[in-house]
Amino acid sequence: MSDPVVVITGAAGGIGAAAVSTFLRHGWKVHALDRRAISAEGVTGHECDVINEEQLVSLAERIGPIDALVPGAGINLRPDDNTAEKLTLEAWNRTIAVNLTGVMLTVRAFRPKVRADGAIVLVSSVAALRAIPGTDAYTASKGAIVALTRSWAVDYSREGIRVNCVAPGPTDTDMMSGLRESYTGDRQVQLPQQRMATAGEVAQVIRFLASKEASYVSGAIIPVDGGAIAHSAGIPFPRRRPKS
Ligand SMILES: NC(=O)c1ccc[n+]([C@@H]2O[C@H](COP(=O)([O-])OP(=O)(O)OC[C@H]3O[C@@H](n4cnc5c(N)ncnc54)[C@H](O)[C@@H]3O)[C@@H](O)[C@H]2O)c1
Repeated sequence: MSDPVVVITGAAGGIGAAAVSTFLRHGWKVHALDRRAISAEGVTGHECDVINEEQLVSLAERIGPIDALVPGAGINLRPDDNTAEKLTLEAWNRTIAVNLTGVMLTVRAFRPKVRADGAIVLVSSVAALRAIPGTDAYTASKGAIVALTRSWAVDYSREGIRVNCVAPGPTDTDMMSGLRESYTGDRQVQLPQQRMATAGEVAQVIRFLASKEASYVSGAIIPVDGGAIAHSAGIPFPRRRPKS
């Protein structure tokens, strides 16, 4: 049997790059797409902008049949105030273009290439499941990904394709570089695990959902947040006991 094939977008950095390594380790053949160049060992890299439908369609034709698709490319423009009142229309449009239209275009281009019994794993965010004030454009785009996960899971069940999504909490990548301090030192008690996720921890869940091990999982929204959204707002987390 030949190695399974996965296409990952946003693969040059953060969670996407960690997904590349994880799939490779599990014996997958990886096509890594990003608007930045990718040169990782054992990977076929393709420079591609997910809002360019022509590029996506032509790549889908060149790559051919695949077993899994991970449209992970995303942005979180962080103007000082990202609320509906203060957000620029340009920032709103750009966020929706990459995080929502880009995912739709990627799925539209590659879904016909996903084999029966294959899988699509989308990347939403805890921002879609619990309020994170001041990120209106991002939150709206990620909420739409939750909705699409469910509707595509039903639609594509006809083709034998499962569709799921991960909803990561704060994860230590470039996207969060400006916010790292909010999750370190004393303020780390904001998170039950008292640290951010690593990109690898999110990637492992993505790889599981893409694999045959998850053969009866579809339409699921899986938080990868260390228990953050399970927590009742306003009640402080117990501090972790030091390891003895
Ligand atoms: N880091 C977090 O805390 C976090 C939490 C929840 C969800 N997410 C989601 O996870 C995904 C990955 O985020 P990350 O933290 O790894 O971000 P990142 O900024 O570290 O990496 C994102 C990658 O996407 C690529 N990209 C951006 N726009 C693109 C475009 N138009 N076309 C092609 N590639 C493009 C970038 O070049 C980059 O390599 C995103 O969808 C993000 O919204 C991240």
